[in-house]
Formats: sequence, structure tokens, C-alpha cells
Amino acid sequence: MRRLLIAGNWKMHKTVPEAVELVRELKELVKDVTDRDILVCPPFTALYPVSQELKGSNIYLGGQNMFYEEEGAFTGEISPLMLKDVGCRFVILGHSERRHIFKEDDRLINKKVLSAVEHGLTPILCVGETLQERESGRTKEVVKKQVVEGLKGLTPESEFVIAYEPVWAIGTGRTATPELAQEVHEFIRNTLKELFGSEKAETVRILYGGSVKPNNAAGLLKMPDIDGALVGGASLKAESFSQIVKAL
Ligand code: 13P
Repeated sequence: MRRLLIAGNWKMHKTVPEAVELVRELKELVKDVTDRDILVCPPFTALYPVSQELKGSNIYLGGQNMFYEEEGAFTGEISPLMLKDVGCRFVILGHSERRHIFKEDDRLINKKVLSAVEHGLTPILCVGETLQERESGRTKEVVKKQVVEGLKGLTPESEFVIAYEPVWAIGTGRTATPELAQEVHEFIRNTLKELFGSEKAETVRILYGGSVKPNNAAGLLKMPDIDGALVGGASLKAESFSQIVKAL
């Protein structure tokens, strides 16, 4: 009943010509896919040209971050109106690189989540523990806090997606096993039940991210509470991303 969502987070990669070339190839490779949602999140500079290239395709467009205000003196920031203007339907928020490199905290991320929802963008709230937190047995505590704080103020009517991305699995080639990921996904869904009730929790998509590759995607996607993938490195090539899109 939950439609799979396979999302590519390109991070700080691709010039405009490279981005357009990638989606041109990808469009062709996934054109017959109808039973799941496909999303690409290019860097800001490539959003508009990519949206032009994606017109009429089955691929959604998303931003990798945004500020919560509509406009103003916020040098270097991008607003929800700007993302919508170039055709975005989704926005990744609270990615671990935002949290750790740029020191974003749950309070700031929550403001962004609320603003995205108010503006009709679907936030993909990223959560996940560091290696140190996992090794000290704090995974659930950390993830629960990020989920609860990040979603504060939303209602069962709000549309949002969660991405569980263990920090130790991002860009390391060290994927969580399907069983280990499933355990945290189930825990997140139980947290959503406490927050929004069972009915809503059963409809929320929880993606897994962290070294998802063509050879491990199917094993992850077949787990009952894993509803898609947030793919970094392997989304930078049309061939490998399309294989993940079609896995399972
Ligand atoms: P990798 O797939 O490169 O590990 O990146 C995962 C990620 O951070 C997606 O948001």
C-alpha cells in the first residue's frame, strides 16, 4: 500500500551540462516504471534546467535543503517559493551532512520541515546515528529525538517522508544489513504511531540511505518497513541509479 520512493541525492556534484545529460539518460532508462516514485535532487544551480528536461517524465524533482523564510536578507539561502518555482515537489531536510558539517540542529530543521509542509513541498526528514552513538547503544534514543523534534507541529494530515541514514553507512560502502535497517525502520514507524496514530503511521514512507548500490538494493527494499531508498554516490550515474529504481 505504500508506494516505493527511490530518490537520488546528488549532493555537491554535476555542472548544468552534466546534470542535464544525466537526467536525459535516466529518463529513457526508467520510462516504463509506473509502480513506484522516482526523484532526483540536483544541486540548486541545476534545478531549473533539469526541471525543463524532466517535463512530461515520471521523475520528480527535489531540493537538497532550503531556508524556512519566503524571502529576505538571508544571504546564500534558498526559499520554499524558489524551490516550487523551479518545479520541486520534495525537499531533503536535516541530512547528516547538514547536521554535522553545517551544524544544523533539530530546532532549525523543524522550522524548515514546517515551512516545507506549509508551502506544499514534501519534506524528506533525514535521521540517523553516528558510529559512536550506535556503539554506545544509543541508536534508538538518538533517532527518536530527531524524529520527534523534527516533526513537531505537524498533524496526521501533513505529507512527509522520513529517511533513515545511519551516519556510519553514508559514503563508506558499509551498508546496514537489511535486518539491522528494518529494526530501526520499525522503531521509527512505532514512534510515528505514538505521534500521529496508527492509520497515519502506516502510510508514511520511510526510506533507507547509506551506501545503497544496485547489488544490495533489492535486499533492503523487500523488508516490510523499508519503503524506498535515498541514494548518494550510486545516483550519479544513470545506469546504476536506474538499476536501483528497478530493483525488486
Ligand atoms: P551514499 O549512497 O553515497 O552512501 O550517500 C547516502 C546519502 O547520504 C544520501 O542522502
